[in-house]
Amino acid sequence: MFNKIRLWKNQNNSSTLREKIEEIKKLPIPEHVAIIMDGNGRWAKKRALPRIAGHHEGMKVVRKTTRLANQLGIKTLTLYAFSTENWKRPKNEVEYIMKLPEEFLGAFLPELIKENVQVKMMGYKDKLPVHTLHAIEKAIEETKNNNGLVLNFALNYGSRAEIIDAVKQVVSDCRSDIMNENDLNEEVFSSYLMTANMTDPDLLIRTSGEIRLSNFMLWQLAYTEFWFTEVLWPDFGEEHLLEAIETFQNRQRRFGGI
Ligand code: FPP
Repeated sequence: MFNKIRLWKNQNNSSTLREKIEEIKKLPIPEHVAIIMDGNGRWAKKRALPRIAGHHEGMKVVRKTTRLANQLGIKTLTLYAFSTENWKRPKNEVEYIMKLPEEFLGAFLPELIKENVQVKMMGYKDKLPVHTLHAIEKAIEETKNNNGLVLNFALNYGSRAEIIDAVKQVVSDCRSDIMNENDLNEEVFSSYLMTANMTDPDLLIRTSGEIRLSNFMLWQLAYTEFWFTEVLWPDFGEEHLLEAIETFQNRQRRFGGI
Protein backbone atom coordinates (compact mmCIF):
# COMPACT_ATOMS: atom_id res chain seq x y z
CA MET A 1 0.00 0.00 0.00
CA PHE A 2 2.74 2.42 1.05
CA ASN A 3 4.67 1.68 -2.16
CA LYS A 4 1.54 2.26 -4.19
CA ILE A 5 1.00 5.64 -2.60
CA ARG A 6 4.63 6.54 -3.13
CA LEU A 7 4.46 5.47 -6.76
CA TRP A 8 1.32 7.51 -7.29
CA LYS A 9 2.93 10.51 -5.62
CA ASN A 10 6.02 10.23 -7.79
CA GLN A 11 3.96 9.93 -10.94
CA ASN A 12 1.88 12.85 -9.85
CA ASN A 13 4.98 14.95 -9.14
CA SER A 14 6.56 14.12 -12.45
CA SER A 15 3.38 14.92 -14.33
CA THR A 16 3.22 18.27 -12.51
CA LEU A 17 6.84 18.85 -13.50
CA ARG A 18 6.08 17.96 -17.12
CA GLU A 19 3.13 20.34 -17.14
CA LYS A 20 5.27 23.09 -15.64
CA ILE A 21 7.96 22.53 -18.29
CA GLU A 22 5.38 22.76 -21.07
CA GLU A 23 3.93 25.94 -19.57
CA ILE A 24 7.35 27.57 -19.29
CA LYS A 25 8.26 26.60 -22.84
CA LYS A 26 5.39 28.73 -24.16
CA LEU A 27 7.38 31.88 -23.27
CA PRO A 28 10.93 32.73 -24.37
CA ILE A 29 13.53 30.56 -22.64
CA PRO A 30 16.85 32.20 -21.70
CA GLU A 31 19.39 31.21 -24.30
CA HIS A 32 22.35 31.17 -21.95
CA VAL A 33 22.03 30.33 -18.26
CA ALA A 34 25.07 30.65 -15.99
CA ILE A 35 25.14 29.20 -12.49
CA ILE A 36 27.39 29.86 -9.49
CA MET A 37 26.92 26.53 -7.72
CA ASP A 38 27.45 27.45 -4.07
CA GLY A 39 26.73 25.88 -0.71
CA ASN A 40 28.15 22.37 -1.03
CA GLY A 41 30.27 22.78 2.11
CA ARG A 42 27.37 24.10 4.21
CA TRP A 43 25.11 21.32 2.95
CA ALA A 44 27.65 18.76 4.19
CA LYS A 45 28.26 20.56 7.48
CA LYS A 46 24.54 20.58 8.27
CA ARG A 47 24.65 16.80 8.00
CA ALA A 48 27.93 16.42 9.92
CA LEU A 49 29.53 15.11 6.73
CA PRO A 50 32.93 16.06 5.28
CA ARG A 51 32.82 18.96 2.79
CA ILE A 52 33.64 16.61 -0.07
CA ALA A 53 30.32 14.82 0.49
CA GLY A 54 28.67 18.12 -0.45
CA HIS A 55 30.68 18.35 -3.66
CA HIS A 56 29.71 14.79 -4.55
CA GLU A 57 26.04 15.57 -4.03
CA GLY A 58 26.57 18.77 -6.03
CA MET A 59 27.84 16.72 -8.93
CA LYS A 60 24.56 14.77 -9.02
CA VAL A 61 22.71 18.08 -9.25
CA VAL A 62 24.88 19.05 -12.25
CA ARG A 63 23.52 15.97 -13.99
CA LYS A 64 19.87 16.75 -13.20
CA THR A 65 20.27 20.40 -14.15
CA THR A 66 21.93 19.55 -17.46
CA ARG A 67 19.10 17.17 -18.35
CA LEU A 68 16.45 19.76 -17.60
CA ALA A 69 18.32 22.55 -19.39
CA ASN A 70 18.47 20.35 -22.47
CA GLN A 71 14.79 19.49 -22.20
CA LEU A 72 13.88 23.17 -21.93
CA GLY A 73 15.86 24.10 -25.01
CA ILE A 74 18.42 26.27 -23.22
CA LYS A 75 21.30 26.73 -25.67
CA THR A 76 24.20 27.22 -23.25
CA LEU A 77 24.59 26.24 -19.61
CA THR A 78 27.73 27.62 -17.97
CA LEU A 79 28.60 26.15 -14.58
CA TYR A 80 31.16 27.71 -12.23
CA ALA A 81 32.83 24.58 -10.91
CA PHE A 82 36.20 25.93 -9.75
CA SER A 83 37.63 29.44 -9.59
CA THR A 84 41.23 30.59 -9.85
CA GLU A 85 40.89 31.43 -6.13
CA ASN A 86 39.64 27.97 -5.11
CA TRP A 87 43.23 26.61 -5.01
CA LYS A 88 43.44 28.21 -1.54
CA ARG A 89 41.23 25.42 -0.18
CA PRO A 90 42.62 22.42 1.72
CA LYS A 91 44.61 20.10 -0.54
CA ASN A 92 42.31 17.11 -0.05
CA GLU A 93 39.27 19.17 -1.05
CA VAL A 94 40.96 20.53 -4.17
CA GLU A 95 42.10 17.03 -5.14
CA TYR A 96 38.59 15.73 -4.65
CA ILE A 97 36.96 18.45 -6.77
CA MET A 98 39.55 17.79 -9.49
CA LYS A 99 38.44 14.15 -9.62
CA LEU A 100 34.78 15.06 -10.13
CA PRO A 101 34.96 15.80 -13.88
CA GLU A 102 36.34 12.28 -14.44
CA GLU A 103 33.65 10.69 -12.32
CA PHE A 104 30.92 12.81 -13.84
CA LEU A 105 31.99 12.34 -17.45
CA GLY A 106 32.89 8.67 -16.91
CA ALA A 107 29.27 7.99 -16.03
CA PHE A 108 27.44 10.65 -18.02
CA LEU A 109 29.38 11.14 -21.27
CA PRO A 110 27.48 8.45 -23.24
CA GLU A 111 24.21 10.16 -22.36
CA LEU A 112 25.64 13.59 -23.27
CA ILE A 113 26.73 12.23 -26.65
CA LYS A 114 23.33 10.62 -27.22
CA GLU A 115 21.45 13.73 -26.18
CA ASN A 116 23.43 15.93 -28.60
CA VAL A 117 25.10 17.95 -25.81
CA GLN A 118 28.38 19.67 -26.63
CA VAL A 119 30.87 19.88 -23.75
CA LYS A 120 33.10 22.97 -23.49
CA MET A 121 35.41 24.36 -20.89
CA MET A 122 36.59 27.86 -20.06
CA GLY A 123 39.43 28.50 -17.67
CA TYR A 124 43.17 28.11 -17.35
CA LYS A 125 44.04 24.60 -18.44
CA ASP A 126 47.74 24.73 -17.57
CA LYS A 127 47.25 24.35 -13.80
CA LEU A 128 44.72 21.54 -13.98
CA PRO A 129 45.88 18.02 -13.06
CA VAL A 130 46.52 15.90 -16.15
CA HIS A 131 43.76 13.42 -15.28
CA THR A 132 41.18 16.23 -14.99
CA LEU A 133 42.23 17.85 -18.23
CA HIS A 134 42.29 14.52 -20.01
CA ALA A 135 38.68 13.73 -18.99
CA ILE A 136 37.48 17.15 -20.11
CA GLU A 137 39.39 17.12 -23.40
CA LYS A 138 38.08 13.66 -24.21
CA ALA A 139 34.51 14.88 -23.62
CA ILE A 140 35.12 18.02 -25.70
CA GLU A 141 36.51 15.91 -28.54
CA GLU A 142 33.75 13.31 -28.44
CA THR A 143 30.96 15.88 -28.40
CA LYS A 144 32.48 18.44 -30.77
CA ASN A 145 30.05 17.65 -33.61
CA ASN A 146 26.97 17.85 -31.39
CA ASN A 147 24.86 20.93 -31.86
CA GLY A 148 22.41 20.79 -28.97
CA LEU A 149 22.93 22.24 -25.51
CA VAL A 150 26.44 23.59 -24.86
CA LEU A 151 27.52 22.47 -21.38
CA ASN A 152 30.29 24.89 -20.54
CA PHE A 153 32.34 24.16 -17.42
CA ALA A 154 34.14 27.12 -15.85
CA LEU A 155 37.10 25.33 -14.32
CA ASN A 156 40.06 27.23 -12.90
CA TYR A 157 38.29 30.29 -14.27
CA GLY A 158 38.75 33.89 -13.10
CA SER A 159 37.16 36.82 -14.85
CA ARG A 160 39.71 39.53 -14.03
CA ALA A 161 42.57 37.38 -15.31
CA GLU A 162 40.51 36.61 -18.43
CA ILE A 163 39.99 40.34 -19.06
CA ILE A 164 43.67 41.18 -18.51
CA ASP A 165 44.73 38.41 -20.89
CA ALA A 166 42.28 39.70 -23.49
CA VAL A 167 43.69 43.24 -23.13
CA LYS A 168 47.26 41.92 -23.55
CA GLN A 169 46.23 40.06 -26.70
CA VAL A 170 44.50 43.16 -28.11
CA VAL A 171 47.63 45.23 -27.47
CA SER A 172 49.82 42.60 -29.07
CA ASP A 173 47.51 42.34 -32.13
CA CYS A 174 47.55 46.14 -32.51
CA ARG A 175 51.34 46.24 -32.27
CA SER A 176 51.72 43.58 -34.90
CA ASP A 177 49.10 45.23 -37.16
CA ILE A 178 46.68 42.30 -36.97
CA MET A 179 44.19 44.82 -35.63
CA ASN A 180 43.77 48.57 -35.71
CA GLU A 181 42.91 50.09 -32.32
CA ASN A 182 40.12 52.14 -33.94
CA ASP A 183 38.36 48.89 -34.80
CA LEU A 184 38.15 47.85 -31.17
CA ASN A 185 34.58 47.81 -29.93
CA GLU A 186 32.56 45.70 -27.47
CA GLU A 187 31.88 42.97 -29.99
CA VAL A 188 35.52 42.71 -31.02
CA PHE A 189 36.69 42.73 -27.40
CA SER A 190 34.20 39.94 -26.56
CA SER A 191 35.84 37.81 -29.21
CA TYR A 192 39.09 37.93 -27.20
CA LEU A 193 37.43 36.42 -24.13
CA MET A 194 37.07 32.74 -23.27
CA THR A 195 33.40 33.04 -24.22
CA ALA A 196 34.17 34.02 -27.84
CA ASN A 197 31.38 32.64 -30.05
CA MET A 198 28.97 32.42 -27.13
CA THR A 199 26.14 34.80 -26.36
CA ASP A 200 26.29 36.57 -23.01
CA PRO A 201 24.29 34.91 -20.23
CA ASP A 202 20.64 35.97 -20.11
CA LEU A 203 20.18 34.60 -16.62
CA LEU A 204 22.62 34.16 -13.75
CA ILE A 205 21.69 31.94 -10.83
CA ARG A 206 23.61 31.81 -7.57
CA THR A 207 22.64 29.41 -4.83
CA SER A 208 23.25 29.43 -1.05
CA GLY A 209 22.22 32.98 -0.23
CA GLU A 210 25.47 34.73 -1.19
CA ILE A 211 24.82 37.89 -3.20
CA ARG A 212 28.05 38.46 -5.08
CA LEU A 213 29.76 37.56 -8.35
CA SER A 214 33.03 36.13 -7.02
CA ASN A 215 35.06 37.02 -10.11
CA PHE A 216 32.62 35.29 -12.47
CA MET A 217 32.00 36.55 -16.03
CA LEU A 218 32.30 40.22 -15.06
CA TRP A 219 32.24 41.48 -18.66
CA GLN A 220 29.65 39.01 -19.91
CA LEU A 221 27.11 39.67 -17.13
CA ALA A 222 26.68 43.39 -17.93
CA TYR A 223 23.01 43.02 -18.96
CA THR A 224 22.19 39.66 -17.39
CA GLU A 225 19.20 39.11 -15.13
CA PHE A 226 20.26 37.82 -11.68
CA TRP A 227 18.37 35.29 -9.58
CA PHE A 228 19.61 34.47 -6.10
CA THR A 229 18.28 31.74 -3.85
CA GLU A 230 18.97 30.59 -0.29
CA VAL A 231 18.82 26.98 -1.50
CA LEU A 232 22.17 25.20 -1.19
CA TRP A 233 23.45 23.74 -4.46
CA PRO A 234 23.01 20.06 -3.47
CA ASP A 235 19.33 20.85 -2.72
CA PHE A 236 18.80 22.70 -6.01
CA GLY A 237 16.06 20.81 -7.79
CA GLU A 238 14.21 21.03 -11.07
CA GLU A 239 11.56 23.19 -9.41
CA HIS A 240 14.20 25.81 -8.56
CA LEU A 241 15.51 26.08 -12.11
CA LEU A 242 11.94 26.38 -13.35
CA GLU A 243 11.21 29.07 -10.76
CA ALA A 244 14.31 31.02 -11.84
CA ILE A 245 13.26 30.84 -15.48
CA GLU A 246 9.71 31.83 -14.69
CA THR A 247 11.01 34.88 -12.79
CA PHE A 248 13.23 35.70 -15.78
CA GLN A 249 10.22 35.48 -18.08
CA ASN A 250 8.38 38.01 -15.94
CA ARG A 251 11.20 40.53 -15.96
CA GLN A 252 11.41 43.35 -18.46
CA ARG A 253 14.82 43.61 -20.01
CA ARG A 254 15.48 47.09 -21.32
CA PHE A 255 19.23 46.94 -22.02
CA GLY A 256 19.51 50.60 -21.02
CA GLY A 257 16.47 51.70 -23.04
CA ILE A 258 13.04 52.61 -21.63
C1 FPP B 1 31.10 25.97 -3.92
O1 FPP B 1 30.54 25.52 -2.71
C2 FPP B 1 31.34 24.83 -4.79
C3 FPP B 1 32.53 24.54 -5.39
C4 FPP B 1 33.73 25.36 -5.25
C5 FPP B 1 32.67 23.31 -6.18
C6 FPP B 1 31.53 23.11 -7.10
C7 FPP B 1 31.61 21.79 -7.70
C8 FPP B 1 30.53 21.04 -7.97
C9 FPP B 1 29.15 21.47 -7.73
C10 FPP B 1 30.68 19.75 -8.64
C11 FPP B 1 31.18 19.99 -10.02
C12 FPP B 1 30.93 18.88 -10.88
C13 FPP B 1 31.58 18.70 -12.03
C14 FPP B 1 31.11 17.65 -12.91
C15 FPP B 1 32.74 19.50 -12.44
P1 FPP B 1 31.36 25.74 -1.40
O2 FPP B 1 32.26 24.58 -1.20
O3 FPP B 1 32.04 27.06 -1.43
O4 FPP B 1 30.24 25.74 -0.32
P2 FPP B 1 30.23 26.57 1.04
O5 FPP B 1 30.21 28.02 0.64
O6 FPP B 1 28.95 26.15 1.69
O7 FPP B 1 31.44 26.19 1.81
